[in-house]
Amino acid sequence: MQTILVTGGAGYIGSHTVVELQAAGYDVVIVDNLVNSNPAVLNRIHQISGKAPLFVQADVRDADALAAVFAKYDIDAVIHFAGLKAVGESVEKPLQYYDNNVRGTMVLCQAMAEAGVFKLVFSSSATVYGPDAPVPYEESMPLGQPSSPYGASKAMVERVLADLCVSDSRWSVVALRYFNPIGAHVSGLIGEDPLGLPNNLMPFISRVAVGKLAELSVFGDDYNTPDGTCLRDYLHVVDLAVGHCRSLQSLDKVGLHAFNLGTGNGVSVLDMVKAFESVTGQKVPYKIAPRRHGDLPAFWANADKAKRELSWVAGSSLEKMMADTWRWQSNNPDGYGG
Ligand code: NAD
Ligand code: WQD
Repeated sequence: MQTILVTGGAGYIGSHTVVELQAAGYDVVIVDNLVNSNPAVLNRIHQISGKAPLFVQADVRDADALAAVFAKYDIDAVIHFAGLKAVGESVEKPLQYYDNNVRGTMVLCQAMAEAGVFKLVFSSSATVYGPDAPVPYEESMPLGQPSSPYGASKAMVERVLADLCVSDSRWSVVALRYFNPIGAHVSGLIGEDPLGLPNNLMPFISRVAVGKLAELSVFGDDYNTPDGTCLRDYLHVVDLAVGHCRSLQSLDKVGLHAFNLGTGNGVSVLDMVKAFESVTGQKVPYKIAPRRHGDLPAFWANADKAKRELSWVAGSSLEKMMADTWRWQSNNPDGYGG
């Protein structure tokens, strides 16, 4: 049985991935400093899978803590989710973002190399293509100039990983460029639980529906898109989690390999609201607000490479994403704090 170290495994995408890894027969060790997650998620994972993941509360920038983890457990590969992800906050606190996301990954890779572990799956983002890339995004396009420190940190890490693979042919690294993950595990036991006011569309909609927020602000309806609101490629977080399991199986190929994980479809903000209302029967009051600084009008994935090389597709319908989001939100109106 293989053991996977999952950094950031208590977070939104990490927790769903831990469940899929356990279902696929892997043992899991989570390293998370809980800066953006709640330890209650560990019991929920146990409830779903019947297996408690091993958990170490530590920061990935703590080299000694990582060395202790690698010494204690026989780790076969690492999935690296740990990092900060709020685009707006990254503009206010660039040093924190570069430190967490870039230095965190460098400390992790150093600890891996010292432990003789050279297999890594990294959480990258569609944002690495930058604001000028044509849609749909394809992996063969060069890394762009992302406009936020968050986006830049992801592009920098991809560059570091590429150089690492050139320097030592033992490294086998997959960079997964996620588009917009939404939804929750079908059990309703785990899901997205942002601290404070959500930055992202889906948790904002579900918190309006559950009565925690009064109304959604739709950021701009004058874009050059069919209904004037922005288009994004929303994919189910469990499909995304399965993509990580498939990527682990491809880690016998050396070098850095990047994959887009998305559905290949762009959906507008207003269509998201309509789909949520029609699937759940809940009203989502909204108003049209000014554009949000930095938003791109439209982007979606060309996900052919993941289909071809990982046998992966984001198969869940928008309706399922909405139903699963609502089950999680309505069963847990206060998230993990409830
Ligand atoms: P999340 O905040 O829910 O999960 C990240 C986890 O990492 C949290 O549990 C947090 O406590 C932990 N963490 C943060 N810094 C750490 C550190 N220095 N040491 C140890 N643990 C640390 O976020 P998520 O949505 O699950 O995202 C996971 C990864 O995927 C992130 O790297 C994010 O940038 C990337 N990503 C997310 C999205 C998205 O829309 N959610 C899209 C593209 C990429
Ligand atoms: C989606 C659409 C908003 C909130 C961000 C990061 C990206 C990636 C995923 C990590 C946009 C609109 C939103 C609201 C709204 N993360 N919106 N009202 O901006 O595509 O991507 O998260 O890598 O890097 O930039 O996602 O969910 O914030 O927004 O109208 O209250 O919803 O304008 O058109 P985004 P999002």
